[in-house]
Amino acid sequence: MRIVTLASQKGGAGKSTLARQLAVIAGEREPTWLLDRDPQATTTKWMARRAEIEGVADRPELLELGNTSLETAAGQVSDQPGTLFVDTRPAVEEREAESIRVSSFVIVPVRPSFDDLEAVGDTLASVKRIGRKAVIVVNAAKHPRRAVEARAALSRYGVPVCPTHLLDRAVYQDAALNGQGVAEMKGAAARDAEAELRAVWTWVLEAAGGE
Ligand SMILES: Nc1ncnc2c1ncn2[C@@H]1O[C@H](COP(=O)(O)OP(=O)(O)OP(=O)(O)O)[C@@H](O)[C@H]1O
Ligand SMILES: [Mg+2]
Repeated sequence: MRIVTLASQKGGAGKSTLARQLAVIAGEREPTWLLDRDPQATTTKWMARRAEIEGVADRPELLELGNTSLETAAGQVSDQPGTLFVDTRPAVEEREAESIRVSSFVIVPVRPSFDDLEAVGDTLASVKRIGRKAVIVVNAAKHPRRAVEARAALSRYGVPVCPTHLLDRAVYQDAALNGQGVAEMKGAAARDAEAELRAVWTWVLEAAGGE
């Protein structure tokens, strides 16, 4: 099984959004799981809202560790097909390091603001110290031009940066509220969001050698 941790020290970068949305997209082809390592439990609550929806896909599933350590759990499922997305706190401390260590690679979402682009350096340094591969995805750009500028600024870190991005779209917030993937929602806005997510996931799999 592929294990993908979403990490960023910066709060609100898009870890939970990407974990959930990518888990739905990837779940169309393979088993997917979500592991919520954030005590805010936003992803666990999203899964609970999802459980209320009639006819929703049974992927992703929520993985609960109970008393098992992440390392043991990862070892137990390592030969299964599919992807486990690990949502983390806005920190890279021991708890996050534990997830990163067992991961195939790490997705670092970053908003295209000056402060976020600066702060992501600490997250990337931590992932590098732990010895895992990171890829960056620009999230919630107000305008494509802002994402292009952000990518140029991010090139200084020497880490693969996704050539496409997620725009700032209300439909992601609707999806968060509804317990849905945008890919499961109706309407033109959802199709646009779905297309950019698919592009990101396709690129991530290639860039991170996740296969
Ligand atoms: N591309 C986007 N367009 C619009 N809203 C977004 C987008 N990405 C994230 N958001 C919204 O921004 C907020 C923060 O996103 P999210 O919860 O995914 O970040 P996070 O990194 O998990 O935050 P935390 O560090 O608190 O765990 C949420 O309300 C979410 O719906
Ligand atoms: Mg979160």
